[in-house]
Amino acid sequence: MILRSLLLFLSDQKQLRGWVETSPLARRLTSRFIAGPTLEDALGVCTRLHQGGVLATLDRLGESVTSPGEVEASRDGYLEAVEKVAALGMPATFSIKLTHFGLDLSEDTCRRHVEPVVQTAQRLGKVVEVDMESSAHVDRTLRLVVDLHQAYGNVRGVIQAYLYRSAEDTAMLCERRIPVRLCKGAYREPGAIAYPSKRAVNQSFARLMQVLLERGVCPGFATHDVKLIALAKRLARERGMAAGGFEFQMLYGIRRDLEKQFIREGYRLRLYVPYGEHWYPYFMRRLAERPANLRFLLRNLVKG
Ligand code: FDA
Repeated sequence: MILRSLLLFLSDQKQLRGWVETSPLARRLTSRFIAGPTLEDALGVCTRLHQGGVLATLDRLGESVTSPGEVEASRDGYLEAVEKVAALGMPATFSIKLTHFGLDLSEDTCRRHVEPVVQTAQRLGKVVEVDMESSAHVDRTLRLVVDLHQAYGNVRGVIQAYLYRSAEDTAMLCERRIPVRLCKGAYREPGAIAYPSKRAVNQSFARLMQVLLERGVCPGFATHDVKLIALAKRLARERGMAAGGFEFQMLYGIRRDLEKQFIREGYRLRLYVPYGEHWYPYFMRRLAERPANLRFLLRNLVKG
């Protein structure tokens, strides 16, 4: 628990981030979780996944940007990705973080930059998934998800099971027929707003999963937790749902063994494929989820 908190604290440290992201060792150490620094790297991974029957959602790494120039770069980077993926006929979606589009500068800046991406994606028949960030961003993110979905119809929102408010937010999204990705939640949140124990988070995930199977629009269950995955399969079977009525989502590189099993069993599986140079916060959150990954990292460092 202490190690998890320390890793999440470090994930927020901007100076450390700048130093680590430019280290020559980085590529070797991060390649298990990150497709590579360029869009071409990500497209290569997607092609391989699609050949194996696995869908992808592309995440151009970056978040918490602080200058208008960075916001424009983020918008242009995503526009390029949407156009290339559409031209290649790949069935991928795009995952975006609103702080990468300037949410911390202003809601209006964010809206102006994210809208062209959603609009272009809609024109090309693609879906944009709006990741959920720390609790300070939840209201503003949901507001934008609802508005963008109403205007374009090609947006999926994210619900974090660890937040007490998530039952209400899930009901609101279901009522508006907005597709949802359900995850446990990856940020450091206080006990006043989030379940402090893993057990309570898992129970919340299970409850929300039932709601989404009953009232959601093609929900995505984003977890590597085998118990929750088994529960999703059972609940879907009991409701006579076709395997295409929902999807499982996992992060690239985490559970390759499970990927094969999903495909063998005929389930729809989407992997979250991150790429780009600003990998530090994403990578640190992955270490925080499973501090045993530190051992893997250190082994690679020692191998030289
Ligand atoms: P849990 O952490 O309990 O892990 C269950 C098992 O999975 C572990 O025992 C281990 O075997 C394996 N595992 C999990 N994480 C691992 C890791 N890093 N390395 C190795 N093994 C690991 N969060 C958020 O706040 N906002 C968001 O928008 C998203 N989006 C998102 C998309 C997708 C596709 C996924 C899969 C996850 C997210 N998340 C997220 C992250 C999510 O909230 C959560 O932090 C992680 O998925 C880890 O939780 P699990 O559900 O996997 O369970």
